[in-house]
Amino acid sequence: LHSADGRLQVKLSAALGQMRIAGRDANVFSYNGSLPGPTLLLRPGDRVNVALENRLADPTNLHVHGLHVSPQGNSDNALVSIEPGTSFEYEYRLPADHPPGVYWYHPHRHGSVADQIFGGLYGAIIVQDPQPVPVSRERVLVISDISLTGGGSIATVSAMEKMMGREGNLLLVNGQLNPALAARPGERERWRIINACTSRYLKLRLDGQHLQLLGLDSGRFQSPRDVEEVLLAPGNRADLLVTAAQGAAVLRTLPVDRGSMGSMMGGNNGGGQSPPGPDGTALATLAITGTPGAAPGPVPPQPAPRDLRSVAVTAHRELVFAMGMGMNNGGQDMGMAGGTGSGMMSFTINGRPFDPARTDTTVLAGAVEEWTLRNTSPMDHPVHLHVWPMQILEQAGQPVESPTWQDVVNIPARSSVRVRIAFDDFTGKTVYHCHILDHEDSGMMGLIEAR
Ligand code: C2O
Ligand code: CU
Ligand code: CU
Repeated sequence: LHSADGRLQVKLSAALGQMRIAGRDANVFSYNGSLPGPTLLLRPGDRVNVALENRLADPTNLHVHGLHVSPQGNSDNALVSIEPGTSFEYEYRLPADHPPGVYWYHPHRHGSVADQIFGGLYGAIIVQDPQPVPVSRERVLVISDISLTGGGSIATVSAMEKMMGREGNLLLVNGQLNPALAARPGERERWRIINACTSRYLKLRLDGQHLQLLGLDSGRFQSPRDVEEVLLAPGNRADLLVTAAQGAAVLRTLPVDRGSMGSMMGGNNGGGQSPPGPDGTALATLAITGTPGAAPGPVPPQPAPRDLRSVAVTAHRELVFAMGMGMNNGGQDMGMAGGTGSGMMSFTINGRPFDPARTDTTVLAGAVEEWTLRNTSPMDHPVHLHVWPMQILEQAGQPVESPTWQDVVNIPARSSVRVRIAFDDFTGKTVYHCHILDHEDSGMMGLIEAR
């Protein structure tokens, strides 16, 4: 769906319905009966109206992940609840200098985010470049995972899978199992890749092709970086240039070690999936045939990314992401605690699970803050902040030299990451949370207010 005149009117209907998935009939969630939902093509400065109709059996809402828009009222309000059988009119106004890039939309109703995304509710948002990169084709690849029962329904997951973060046993690209893609040798394509999996990390490879990363999330590098693989935590996006060689190539995801609860759970990893082999899982197959395409023109220089390292910081904060036994965590880090009971695990930030009635962090609008994101648990947590992207300064004690901006930043097990955030342009309440959405639904989320 394209905004022709700077205004886009979109109708999204969230419902359960019949769909063909992996060659069989399935009964899954979707927006407008399509998996993924329609792609929204926007430009900086656009105004988008989205009428969301809830035909699900449970409350839902909509979040425009990564967009730099107001968190208030009927804009990107993470606290709205849309009851079954009702509709809600969202209106998003993108600033004229909104960063181009790859974004996405998905439900954000606390307690059922993982279930609803796992079941099929997600779609892509592209904010177009003022100056396009010359390519022969643009593709949007929304990567998701789901598990289906024998009867084709969305599988329910165990308490253990929720603790680990569920991983579906079907990996889909645009709702399809291992789709066939075609390109001509020498052609340069632009692939917008979204990790819409509930908990699964993707380590993407497309061997034998020339891959150049333009950026991750809304962050753009000044010049494209040659890469051999792309690591995407849940919620991350890649803006990738693919120049095809001859032959065929398989887009694969390799296994990622994101930690486990093995020390506590008697060696059971909790997920219940058989791990993929060392070659990973095929996501899509690219056939490269025909006469060579025209040599691509140069990639236009990108504006220098903003760098907050030389900016005065108003406040320093530490956010501690922890998993522990018992409802209040009681200071017991799970890496050292004993015991078993699976329903007892708590997911906290600074010792507290999410409470929509409590504001955890208050920041001054316009301020630049430096946050240390500390993970005391034996699993990775991909930390996401709404509305304002984060510049990564230091990862596990190692400084990050060139300005790197992301809105989902992975915090490895028992490690920390330092970031800076400029709380520009908007006031209001929104959230930060772990983007392993089972962890978010279990309480690993905090409320932030800019004022
Ligand atoms: Cu992708 Cu708070 O979300
Ligand atoms: Cu988000
Ligand atoms: Cu987590």
